Amino acid sequence: MPGPAERAAFLRGEIEHHNHAYYVLDAPTIPDAAYDALFRELQDIETRHPELCTADSPTTRVGGKPLPQFAQVAHAVPMLSLNNAFTEEDVVAFDRRCREAVGLNAGLTEGLNADQHEIDYAVEPKFDGLAISLRYEDGVFVQGATRGDGSTGEDVTQNLRTVRTIPLRLTGRPPALIEVRGEVLMFRQDFENLNARQRQAGEKEFVNPRNAAAGSLRQLDSRVTAARSLRFFAYGVADTTTVSLAPTFQGELMQLLADWGVPVANEREIVSGARGLLDYYRRLGEMRDRMPYDIDGVVYKVDSLAWQGKLGFVSRAPRFAIAHKFPAQEALTTVEAIEVQVGRTGALTPVARLAPVFVGGVTVTNATLHNEDEVRRKDVRVGDTVIVRRAGDVIPEVVAVVAERRPRRDLFSDDALQPPFALPTTCPVCGAVIEKPADEAIARCTGGLFCPAQRKQSLLHFASRRALDIEGLGDKLVEQLVDQDIVKTPADVFVLDAACLANLDRMAEKSATNLLAAIDKRRATTLARFIFALGIRNVGEATAKDLARQFGNLDTLMAADESRLQQVPDVGPVVAASIVRFFAEPHNVAVIAQLRAAGVHWPEGEPSAAVASPLSGKTFVLTGTLPTLTREAAKELIEERGGKVAGSVSKKTDFVVAGSEAGSKLDKARQLGVTILDETQFLELIRS
Ligand code: IVH
Repeated sequence: MPGPAERAAFLRGEIEHHNHAYYVLDAPTIPDAAYDALFRELQDIETRHPELCTADSPTTRVGGKPLPQFAQVAHAVPMLSLNNAFTEEDVVAFDRRCREAVGLNAGLTEGLNADQHEIDYAVEPKFDGLAISLRYEDGVFVQGATRGDGSTGEDVTQNLRTVRTIPLRLTGRPPALIEVRGEVLMFRQDFENLNARQRQAGEKEFVNPRNAAAGSLRQLDSRVTAARSLRFFAYGVADTTTVSLAPTFQGELMQLLADWGVPVANEREIVSGARGLLDYYRRLGEMRDRMPYDIDGVVYKVDSLAWQGKLGFVSRAPRFAIAHKFPAQEALTTVEAIEVQVGRTGALTPVARLAPVFVGGVTVTNATLHNEDEVRRKDVRVGDTVIVRRAGDVIPEVVAVVAERRPRRDLFSDDALQPPFALPTTCPVCGAVIEKPADEAIARCTGGLFCPAQRKQSLLHFASRRALDIEGLGDKLVEQLVDQDIVKTPADVFVLDAACLANLDRMAEKSATNLLAAIDKRRATTLARFIFALGIRNVGEATAKDLARQFGNLDTLMAADESRLQQVPDVGPVVAASIVRFFAEPHNVAVIAQLRAAGVHWPEGEPSAAVASPLSGKTFVLTGTLPTLTREAAKELIEERGGKVAGSVSKKTDFVVAGSEAGSKLDKARQLGVTILDETQFLELIRS
């Protein structure tokens, strides 16, 4: 029987091993309950034998007594910054400078094979977090500090202990003394969860994962940090010469760190020459939005440590490394106006008109404010300076107001203070009453198809690629057709002729002929497209396909009652009610009849029996990060098989598919006894 000291040492090793497997390798090794049991046992021993507490005990990860202030830490080796490259030319010039400095250019000018004279670079993401330094003595984490001004930072050791991916003790044979350098950041999903909690608690939300990470690390009360799901990735060490085993390459050094249990980027690579750098930049740029955390560029470092030494430093940045930045996804600009757009279903969306700003690779002049509650919560007003974000192909949005920059009314300015935003009470386009059910975030114009804005949007939807797909029937044209009362319903599109089009702007004879041909071509369509094109509230493309498959023909669908509709896998009470309501509206029935009279047709068949799939009608909740599937891909797999994906776990949930970092949803599933699947089990179910 081992004594408490041996048992505690054993438990520490076990717990940290499982921690590493869970947080760093993303491959949990034991069930959470078993982990909790080990943890409690260790806590227990340490309470009974305080003399057995150690600096590297995983029990220190829960945080400790709040500090009155952070102590200062002088960095033995300063924490420098990187020079930036923004263009291909900058990168080519960087590579040229490196080659010149190490004497590789001679070969090229003598006409030798360029490939043999390329520099190898260790490349990796540029983490968008906070730089920190971790000091390990005899493999034990003893001190962690922020960058500060580069020479002196703040001692945030207690807080860093709570970061699960930071090893409290290095594994393998680490050197007697080493300072690991890297970044603390927050995964996007953890950021979303944190903000949801902040919102619920009525607390201020964080603007982005970086700010959330910074705010969480600079807490005097480390228990707050412990509750915040921070991560750490290393990108190097303070002094490579202190590393035993003396690596000769940056890539080797990174592998050593990984071997000691320090998390490093999975995306790190070794590439050759400027071409290799630019190719890596392009590839990571494409992956950027799919990564679990924000990156703001890539970092290139000469792989040879000897050459790094030769290249050295200029002022405060190394000459052997450079950060190649991606276009920023966030920028500051000012709000010139807040307008309200009316969508296809009458939904009102407040939109900020912005002073043009270059963000996410394009010039942005509008950003969505989502809905009235959002505008109020963020308190966006005309004249405000705001942070706009455009990530990937997502619609630009206003993230937050920079409160300090709000124009103030004072003795020296005549700017009147802008009032908080409020939606109009009548539709800005048609004047109809605005309705906002108490339990909904969305306010709607009640004008229906009498509202020109709704009519335009309905027509655009009707003609859109995934609906009837009428080429050439775009924004500008629909605008004119509706404003001039030429087209009132989708059926009118099919009776357009050359005479109707003749007087329109930008409509030469040739374009008119093309448009009429495009319209004619689409008289033949499919039932699924037709149903989708109708624009029934809550009926998206997937539901339209299901309905078409199940009902086979339009008349049976139009005659179906709510209970019959709910037999369709994707259709619940809300969708069923919208469908019934749509077909109960005489105007809609009339338009359908006119469309048919105008020759719009599709192959009609018999209703099909429901296809039996084990997923059909089942509700899934996805949580955490799955090892291979993205959330979108998993969702698609479920929906294709007639299952539904819900946002939260309830008694109605059939399955929870959980990946790493699954949080409260997983706990809830356990409480309610919902079946929990990992990715492998999920894929088995899909294949069955
Ligand atoms: S190497 C001598 N690699 O970017 C400095 N830095 O703009 C060597 N950063 O303060 C830094 N990701 O905190 C390096 N993969 C990466 C990085 C990285 C983020 C930060 C770093 C530095 C800042 C410079």
